[in-house]
Amino acid sequence: MLYPLVIFIIFLAKPAWLLQQSTADAKASALQQCYNEHYNGTASVFEDFLRGFNSSLYLHQALVSAKPAQLPLTIFVGATLERLGALEAQCRAWPRGPLSAALYLPLLQQRDGLQLTSENTDALQAAAAAVRELFERMEAAGGAACSLTALLLYEAVADPPLAALVPINGLRDAALLAAATPLVAMVDVDLAPSAGLAAEVAAPGGERLARLQREAESGRVAWILPAWETHKRLSLEEGGRVADLAIAGDKAGLRRLEQQSALHHFAKLAYRRGHGPTNFSRWLDAAEPYVVPYADNYEPWFIMSRTLCPPYDVRFRGYGWNKVQQVALVALTNFTFAVHPDAWLVHRPHAKSRSQQLYDASGLGATPAAAGRLDSGGGGGGGAGGGRGGARNAGAGRGGRGGGGGGGGGGGGAAEETREWKGTRAPLSRLFHRRVAALRHVTIRDMRRRTYAAAVGPQVLACRAALPWWAGVDAPGGWGTGLWGPPNGTEAGGAAAAGGAGAGNGG
Ligand SMILES: *[C@@H]1O[C@H](CO)[C@@H](O)[C@H](O)[C@H]1NC(C)=O
Ligand SMILES: *[C@@H]1O[C@H](CO)[C@@H](O)[C@H](O)[C@H]1NC(C)=O
Ligand SMILES: *[C@@H]1O[C@H](CO)[C@@H](O)[C@H](O)[C@H]1NC(C)=O
Ligand SMILES: *[C@@H]1O[C@H](CO)[C@@H](O)[C@H](O)[C@H]1NC(C)=O
Ligand SMILES: *[C@@H]1O[C@H](CO)[C@@H](O)[C@H](O)[C@H]1NC(C)=O
Repeated sequence: MLYPLVIFIIFLAKPAWLLQQSTADAKASALQQCYNEHYNGTASVFEDFLRGFNSSLYLHQALVSAKPAQLPLTIFVGATLERLGALEAQCRAWPRGPLSAALYLPLLQQRDGLQLTSENTDALQAAAAAVRELFERMEAAGGAACSLTALLLYEAVADPPLAALVPINGLRDAALLAAATPLVAMVDVDLAPSAGLAAEVAAPGGERLARLQREAESGRVAWILPAWETHKRLSLEEGGRVADLAIAGDKAGLRRLEQQSALHHFAKLAYRRGHGPTNFSRWLDAAEPYVVPYADNYEPWFIMSRTLCPPYDVRFRGYGWNKVQQVALVALTNFTFAVHPDAWLVHRPHAKSRSQQLYDASGLGATPAAAGRLDSGGGGGGGAGGGRGGARNAGAGRGGRGGGGGGGGGGGGAAEETREWKGTRAPLSRLFHRRVAALRHVTIRDMRRRTYAAAVGPQVLACRAALPWWAGVDAPGGWGTGLWGPPNGTEAGGAAAAGGAGAGNGG
């Protein structure tokens, strides 16, 4: 009762910029409140991942831009703190557009996460300062950068190998919570949108935006943004320059770069199936949108209606199938994939920015948790079913790109730790791959049966029920339920439950 009154008084009493500030602050505290209310501070171990437990994250800091977001499309992204530099580049490539980032900090805690150790308190403070420094710089950049929402989430882990498995889907679900625009696009942190996306496609008032939005909403269209990457042989500087050109220029310029082999379409070498259906040669000549069929393991990036966006299943973490799961769900729920002819994404070769140097200097990058072993640089395919699942890093860990081809199934070090699980002892990487393969199997099976429900943590569900900009969006059972029409008796429910519980046995 008091709350609307207070807002009203602020409204009467304050100039416009102060009003923007108080709206931003109110949004930040609303996010923290609903999210943290259901925080489970039990420090998790690697075996919890094998069991299919949902990760529980604490939203330590929420910073919401007071700059008015002028574009109706929110880019949302999950990333680790090592990637603040990439986030800055992404934010600068999306001027005046809203961008919501969920940033992950694992904290090694032996017991539980409600009372942090003093080392972890320090690490958290340093991380919060690094994120705030970036946020304030983006605020100061005004119309030359995005309207940033930065969420810093930590996880109490009792086990370094778990910390190495970034809860990427949990981060994406959290980042999406902060989006309030009609359209959203999940874009991994090392990719930047072409200038044409902000300037023309998403510019308010134009016929193109009206069409984009209409078809995304009533036509269930997912608008694919074809992704490009610079050639590996280029140095970091050259690659960065090519990426800048490819982002800033027009399509003819992009084609020239492609002809010069400075640039090629995304994962051309590493994982062709992931982007094949986009048909890049057709796209280079296309003046109009065209529809492409869905194929297994397709993992494009796309713009879609915020309220129709299906969940990312939080049981997938680390690398392998985390994005494919959501794309498969998009395809199964009757979306049409149409390739946008005039907007694209460019993968930037990694470079250290000021915030990254700051981060390095803070010593955070050297915590045992951050240096966990399963994130074995590039990951490769390999492992049980990993090749089929396209075990790429999702762009969330360090050095996640490339590899792809052979890959020995992780492992890395000479003497990899083994654990006993379900009566046998196996290296962690093998347990990990087995788990992902089993989860993938169960997911595909349940999608075919139309009984699949993505696992979404109670925190995200609570926020979607509480935040005003999500009001009335979800089916009564929560996000991602009700996708298959009316519930199919007890049998369907039983199958879904058994799938979740039995997933660990499948491999
Ligand atoms: C918290 O999670 C642990 C598993 O990590 C579970 O055993 C426990 O029941 C959960 N507590 C609450 C209150 O949900
Ligand atoms: C790509 O599009 C062209 C038409 O521009 C078509 O001839 C070709 O078969 C398509 N390739 C695939 C793999 O669909
Ligand atoms: C998708 O289409 C099928 C067949 O027309 C229909 O049964 C189902 O309810 C639709 N699902 C959604 C989410 O629109
Ligand atoms: C419910 O779904 C199962 C498949 O999971 C199917 O065999 C069964 O016939 C369905 N029941 C009804 C009432 O539609
Ligand atoms: C994970 O979250 C889902 C809700 O999406 C819930 O049904 C399930 O019980 C949770 N699992 C665990 C182990 O907490």
